[in-house]
This record gives sequence, structure tokens and C-alpha cells, in this order.
Amino acid sequence: MPEYLPPNLDIIRPILWDDKGLLLLDQRLLPWREKYLRLRTWQEVREAIRSMVVRGAPAIGITAAIGMVLGAERIKARSRRDFLAKLRRVGEGLKKARPTAVNLSWAVERMLERAASEELSPADIVEALRAEALKIWEEDIAANRKMGRLGAALLPEEGAILTHCNAGALATGGYGTALGVIRAAFEAGKKIEVFADETRPWLQGARLTAWEMKKVGIPVTVIPDVASGSLMHQGKIAACVVGADRIAANGDVANKIGTYNVAVLARENGIPFYVAAPRSTIDLNTKSGKDIPIEWRDPKEVHYCGGKRLTPKGVAAANPAFDVTPARYVRGIITEVAVAKPPYKRALKALFKETP
Ligand code: MRU
Repeated sequence: MPEYLPPNLDIIRPILWDDKGLLLLDQRLLPWREKYLRLRTWQEVREAIRSMVVRGAPAIGITAAIGMVLGAERIKARSRRDFLAKLRRVGEGLKKARPTAVNLSWAVERMLERAASEELSPADIVEALRAEALKIWEEDIAANRKMGRLGAALLPEEGAILTHCNAGALATGGYGTALGVIRAAFEAGKKIEVFADETRPWLQGARLTAWEMKKVGIPVTVIPDVASGSLMHQGKIAACVVGADRIAANGDVANKIGTYNVAVLARENGIPFYVAAPRSTIDLNTKSGKDIPIEWRDPKEVHYCGGKRLTPKGVAAANPAFDVTPARYVRGIITEVAVAKPPYKRALKALFKETP
């Protein structure tokens, strides 16, 4: 069976793709079960993104790109024009899955541009889209490796690195952004250990970051989110590294809820706070954090943990899934071309003039 996989695939594989469709490692079941879900249509892909079978900004983008291919494969059209109009509707549908990670609309737009870029027949467009989705995936892994090298240099020779949520291989095409930086430092011989915020309510830290770190042999300690400030105050944290879902033109960073708390506490305790993200997460069209759409998820995710209700019936719960960390708390933004430093408006723009 032909498989569509990039040559630089990581050992942790949240996404697989063959001619029967897409296979996603169901992240809702980790760390208890490693089970892949088979998806054949773009609507199934949209639902998988919405329900967090796959999550993490770059992984969502790659999944959506493959979703575009699955959608394109089933389009029945009278003409190229009709084909492209139907493909745009697939793209609009996929973009609605989750609002905050800009990688989703970035990937859909890139696929639409590729489809329209030449006078190709529908069959040739499908072929071109398949190659483009693979390219997006391959480039993401390469970007993570590069970020790893650039970011590792910023970490101390020894010490504990705090991270929030999961910005690892599971959240990307492979290797990871924030966890890629940590992996690269560890692989370079630095004596690094990880403190993983458990990341209530979805527990990306406790379930996914801990699972990944164990797989690659990096010592990891899971902490309740509320413990990070105290550990920083006791001098137990050398640096903080997190990922991002969208970085505005002024350097404000949207990431998993709770990231802002970490950044403020890091500043208070004189600890460097870094963000690692590929350029596909930087949205120069969004002026500041105020303009970033923040996803609010079902309050049930707060009311329940492991299938057990925690709160009394009849009380309300709020579930904002992301927050915005103002640029002034960020020591550096590690990308695949350079580490951007404040002032970010100029530095982020300059990143797009570089070649990776
Ligand atoms: O709700 P999630 O799990 O999709 O949120 C993920 C994050 O906030 C990650 O930190 C971010 O997407 C960066 S992933 C490399």
C-alpha cells in the first residue's frame, strides 16, 4: 500500500498517511492506549481536529493540509473552475474546526494557492496537493530540528526546564517546538530535566509531555499547574520554554491557558521565558494579542476529570482554552530562521526575509 510520509519522520508519529486515508494517533487516549484512528473524508478530519484526536498548532495545520487532499480526491466537478470552488468550500469547512491556532488557516490557504497556481486538470491538482501537504509536513519537521539547534544554545548546561501544555512531536509534524529545543539540548549532552505543568483541564502536560519525554528518555517530573510559581521562587527552574498557537505582529503570544501565569512568574523570579514556534505560527496580519480569537471549550472539560464529576451540580465552569502572553514577558522567540528578540515588531517582520 503506498504511504505518503516525509523522509525525515520522527520516532514519535502522531500522523500517518497512506492511500486509504489519514491515520491519527488518538491523543485523547494517551498515555493509556496507543491507537490510530483511520479517517477517509475531510469532514472526519474536521471532527478529529475539533475533538482533539490531534492537537497542537503545527499538527493541526498538517492534518488540515492532508484533509484538503482527502476532500480534493472526492470532488466531482464539471470544470477546473468548479473544482476550485468546491475545494474552497472544503477549506472553509476545515478552518472552522478550531479558531486560535493560525497554522490551520495558514495550511488551508497554502493548499488553495497551490491548487490555483497553475492551469492543471483536477486530477493533476490532486497530485500537486498531495505533494504540497507532504512538503508542509517535511518542512515542519525540518523547522523543528532547526529550532532545536538554535534554542538549545539558549539553555544552560544543566538544570530544570519548565514547560506548559504539550509542544512536542505529538503537537507537530515530529520532534516538537518547545520539546524539540529541550530534546536538542539533551542530545547535545546538556544535563537537562523537564518539569511539566500538568495543564488542566485537558492534561496535555501530565498525559502527553510526560509520555513523550519518557519515550525519548528525558527525565520528567509532572507538577500541578499551581506549583510552578513556588518552584521558580525556590530557584528550582533554570528556564521556561513553551510553544505557541499564534504570535501577533507585535510579539504577543497566544498559547495554552496558563502560559501567561508562567510568563509573569518567570519575570518576577528573573527566569528566562522563551517561546519556540515556526514561522507558520506567526501571524503578521494580526496586530496584537487583543485581535487573536480565543477558543472557549465545553465547560464539561472543567467539570469532569477522568470521567468523574468534580464540581457540584448547578455551578458554572468557564473553559477558555488559550491565553495571551504580552510580548514584554518573552525573552526570545525561537524560530527556524533565527531567535527573534525584542522589539518584536521589527524582529518578526525580518524573519520573513530570511531563508531557512
Ligand atoms: O489545545 P491544544 O492542545 O491544541 O493546545 C496546544 C498548545 O497550546 C501548544 O502549546 C501549541 O499549539 C504549540 S504546539 C507545538
